[in-house]
Amino acid sequence: MEKSRKKFVDLIDKAIVAANTMDREELLFSYKGILYPTTICSPEVFRAMESFEARTDDVILAGYPKSGTNWVGQILTDLVTISEKKNQDEENSVNEEELEFPYLEIGDVEKYERMNKLTSRRVILTHLLPDNLPRSVFKNKAKILLLIRNPKDVATSFYHFSNGLSSIPSYETWNDFITDFMIGRMPWGSYFDFVSEWNKHVDDENIMPITYEELKENQVLGVKNIAAFFGISLTEEELQSVTERSSFQSMKENSLKTHGALGSILFRKGGVSDWKSLFNEDQNQEMDKAFEEHIAGTKLGAKLKYEVYCKT
Ligand code: A3P
Repeated sequence: MEKSRKKFVDLIDKAIVAANTMDREELLFSYKGILYPTTICSPEVFRAMESFEARTDDVILAGYPKSGTNWVGQILTDLVTISEKKNQDEENSVNEEELEFPYLEIGDVEKYERMNKLTSRRVILTHLLPDNLPRSVFKNKAKILLLIRNPKDVATSFYHFSNGLSSIPSYETWNDFITDFMIGRMPWGSYFDFVSEWNKHVDDENIMPITYEELKENQVLGVKNIAAFFGISLTEEELQSVTERSSFQSMKENSLKTHGALGSILFRKGGVSDWKSLFNEDQNQEMDKAFEEHIAGTKLGAKLKYEVYCKT
């Protein structure tokens, strides 16, 4: 685990150093109409990504930024490690040094060639819209866990993250931030597009949607369901240990080792309803309206339980 995290920490550290020499306007670039952070993504890497060959047994997590992707990524990595240990024979040991930065669209142009050589099962995270993923993901029926979180907490988390991490644009005021969030001028684009585009796949047999809030309410059950979806069997003891290792407290405590400088910014509150500290009445109404227009009538919209989590 240590070795594989080193790549993660190094990449983030480099991005922070590079961002410190850049102007605010240079921090994001547009590709096919969506903004991405210049220090960690590039058009060349997006083009190279088309050669990525997904496998049926890949373990993919798709989530809009700030939906808890690092949390669920930890759960998935742990589940795969447990199942690999069970199935592992001596010659076929897991080579942790080979592991890549977990987000599919982040890295260098050679990443996909290296990934094509990795042994199964690969844990792959992404913030991309379904249409921007390599075609092989759908063609080869890789299983995708689709993580969604209520839009008000996502915006709140994104605001604090933007002001903590130098490689994406910071904001002088919450007002300025929420204006950009509502029109989708964000790294990885619009929250509303993410949910409505992924909603088109919600009935695919290889896709399982899950919400941040349901996982927060009953993490043991959430982990159990995730493991079952990916066909990973767990003893009660293993289930407990995955749940404990992925608790907010434990991930926060380990964050310097696992996430380097990003750790203290990323593991912020890990709760539900912190949006109440930022949204004013007008902003609440604007969000209610946008939710109603873009998401409310969809299956994913219903799953988000907006009335429970986003109303005062
Ligand atoms: P907050 O900013 O609301 O605290 P992502 O990983 O997609 O960037 O999402 C980050 C959000 O997930 C942050 O939300 C972070 O605190 C939360 N998070 C990270 N690990 C968590 C955990 N183990 N349990 C609950 N929330 C967690």
